Amino acid sequence: MRVLVTGGGGYIGSILCRSLLENGYDVLCLDRFFFGMKPIEEIADKIEIIKDDIRWFEPEILRRVDAVFDLASLSNDPTGELDPQKTLEINYKGRVRVAKLSREYGVKKYVLASTCSVYGFQDGLLTEESALNPLTTYAKANVLVEKEILLLADKSFTVTVLRQATVYGYSSRMRFDLAINGMVLGFYKNGKIPIMRDGKQWRPFVHVKDTSNAFIKVLEAEQELVNRQIFNVGSNDQNIQIFDLARLVAESINMPFNYEWYGSPDKRSYRVNFNKIKETLNFKAEHTIEEGAKEVFAALKDGKLNPDDPRTITVKWYKHLLEAHKLIREVEMKGLIL
Ligand SMILES: NC(=O)c1ccc[n+]([C@@H]2O[C@H](COP(=O)([O-])OP(=O)(O)OC[C@H]3O[C@@H](n4cnc5c(N)ncnc54)[C@H](O)[C@@H]3O)[C@@H](O)[C@H]2O)c1
Repeated sequence: MRVLVTGGGGYIGSILCRSLLENGYDVLCLDRFFFGMKPIEEIADKIEIIKDDIRWFEPEILRRVDAVFDLASLSNDPTGELDPQKTLEINYKGRVRVAKLSREYGVKKYVLASTCSVYGFQDGLLTEESALNPLTTYAKANVLVEKEILLLADKSFTVTVLRQATVYGYSSRMRFDLAINGMVLGFYKNGKIPIMRDGKQWRPFVHVKDTSNAFIKVLEAEQELVNRQIFNVGSNDQNIQIFDLARLVAESINMPFNYEWYGSPDKRSYRVNFNKIKETLNFKAEHTIEEGAKEVFAALKDGKLNPDDPRTITVKWYKHLLEAHKLIREVEMKGLIL
């Protein structure tokens, strides 16, 4: 069976491509590789790489594909605000394009990588049926794409939405702009855990290998269990308030709990119920926050991760790419004028 992973060069995608290979699938990885090719270097000879954009790739490749995991996007709230129009172009329109073409070219399954941040700010333990409250362009784009792609589902085209909790853990495309990973980095560099104000906000978490496993569970599930379905991806016991999370991270890496505050009070707070994925797909998170914090800390200490790699802070890297792009265009324009 052949699976196309868009965004396969990313934080989750590069782990997911490896898991698919380990489970015996053929893998095609379509990505712009904004963060370079290094994350998939080790498996480059085992997968097919398509360096292209979800907004304009040639759909003919989809004829050879059985399932699509659609992960490509500008991948967090602050990045989404750098250029909201581009965010909607990629995260909403681009992914609707992938889903529509997948159906047209005979792909059987399409799985969207969405996010629990569509719940925004709410009390209670939120299920897939709860009201949505998207507070950023990134979250709004996810709500729009979810709604439109679910309408494409029919007997011959299975569509599933995975609303992932905030992810943590080591990946060769490392992201330190995620709460747990960022806390570990802050401690490693400054001896203090950075905590986003006011620390009372709730968030659910999931390890990068566990969320990858959720995609594979959907791939292998009976159609009637997953078609036109939304699943929250995570586990009930990994909902935690940010201040408590910081304390847990310090304990996990066996360090004194020194911390510093940053930012203005977070407007997002949500606790999520993960019963549906557990009961329907027998999904179980195998990894814990403690393990994740330890593995990231070890990777920093062992030199496997560079704490100053500018690519690891997604918003800063995209800002840099956008500025470089603007500069090139200015030079080209001047060239024309001259
Ligand atoms: N990491 C998390 O905590 C988390 C949580 C919930 C949902 N998600 C979602 O899961 C998906 C993967 O997240 P991630 O953390 O791996 O992000 P990432 O930024 O590491 O990976 C995204 C990949 O998409 C590629 N990409 C971006 N725009 C593209 C385009 N137009 N065409 C082709 N490729 C493009 C990038 O080069 C990158 O490799 C994203 O859709 C993200 O919104 C992530």
